[in-house]
Amino acid sequence: MIQEWLECITCHAQYDATEVHYTCSKCQGLLAVERPATWHQGLTTALWDGRLSSRNALDDSGVWRFREAVMNVPAATVVSHPEGRTRLYSRPALSRFANVEALHFKHEGENPTGSFKDRGMTVATTQARRVGARAVACASTGNTSASLAAYAAQAGLTSLVFVPAGKITVSKMAQTVAYGARVVKVRGDFDAAMDLVRKACDALGIYLLNSVNAFRIEGQKTIVWELLQDLQWNAPDWIAVPAGNLGNTSAFGKALKEASDAGWIKKIPRIASIQASNANPFFLSYSGGFATRHKVKAETVASAIRIGDPVSYDKARAAIEFTRGVVAQVSDEELLRAKREIDGAGIGCEPASACSLAGTRILREQGVIKPGESVVCVLTGHVLKDPDVIMQHVAGTDPLESRMVEVDADLASVERALKPWL
Ligand code: F0G
Repeated sequence: MIQEWLECITCHAQYDATEVHYTCSKCQGLLAVERPATWHQGLTTALWDGRLSSRNALDDSGVWRFREAVMNVPAATVVSHPEGRTRLYSRPALSRFANVEALHFKHEGENPTGSFKDRGMTVATTQARRVGARAVACASTGNTSASLAAYAAQAGLTSLVFVPAGKITVSKMAQTVAYGARVVKVRGDFDAAMDLVRKACDALGIYLLNSVNAFRIEGQKTIVWELLQDLQWNAPDWIAVPAGNLGNTSAFGKALKEASDAGWIKKIPRIASIQASNANPFFLSYSGGFATRHKVKAETVASAIRIGDPVSYDKARAAIEFTRGVVAQVSDEELLRAKREIDGAGIGCEPASACSLAGTRILREQGVIKPGESVVCVLTGHVLKDPDVIMQHVAGTDPLESRMVEVDADLASVERALKPWL
């Protein structure tokens, strides 16, 4: 078994992977899971591809299929739903919308609890068991909490979630309580909840499962590895991803570095990390050449990414630099318009997810994405994660009222009502 350890990305201090560490106790830097330089020996694309037709329960998971490069634990200790194995879609209408012919969508909303969070949570919950945790916690805008609650229930762990009071969609809150979590509604925003849960975990000996936990990142790497596998290891030119707390941007950078080191891909796709323009601290830092780390008071219709002080900033910055990536911002109008296109193509996603398409369209318009370049947009959450936004903003040129009609229960009324639509 390859033995992993935790290493500070700033001062390179090392820590035992079976102990509880979130940040470096010497310099407060973020920790990453590391392995010996020979980690990829014997780990080939042929091995991963062979597992697609295997009957082994772990191979059925799009995370644990890559287990030697994710986390090395006895199979019996793994907490898996299973997750991953999400589809890659393309639609001519969406290619036209973005003016990108080779455009694909990796739909992470197809995970067990409806978002990409399950990929990180299966690994972090497995780690929670390894460190002997009894209770796990996170701060969340709703998807992490739903995922944590489901995996904690499966693992028999007490789950505690800190959410900004009144700022979580009904669907996400319902999921979270359905799976048995206890909810702490914080009078403040996500950033306040994040700060508080970190302190509470330290003070009360609760195991923290936000993406500052390096094991979450190990699971989320497989979004990229699986989409590369879907494309038969022909790397796209770009991968576009919505950006909030920056866990995914960080995970994508690590995944691409490792895929390149291991020789699974010949070229490294550029990451396009997309923020909402009123929740854009990473965009502001990028625009200033990363000279300053910005914080903002975040406000956007895309509640999942209403985050003003992203925890994984340093790792995400490294990911953008390593992949020669870019950070872009889109307005609420632009992301809602992209969402209507994705929904209208029969795919569907939650508002934050649509940033990837909205950002791709803008980067193509600006000429950053060149004609002929290929793009994979990651859709991070399911369409049912935010029904209120659909009912309030589906309108566009085709308002909700004009799409619905109430009739008396007789055929003549139905005929009259349907006439304009046929
Ligand atoms: N898209 C969705 C649907 C999300 O739920 C999140 C984050 C993101 C994008 C941003 O990803 O944080 O890795 O940059 N949701 C977290 C939560 C904050 O609590 O569910 P990131």
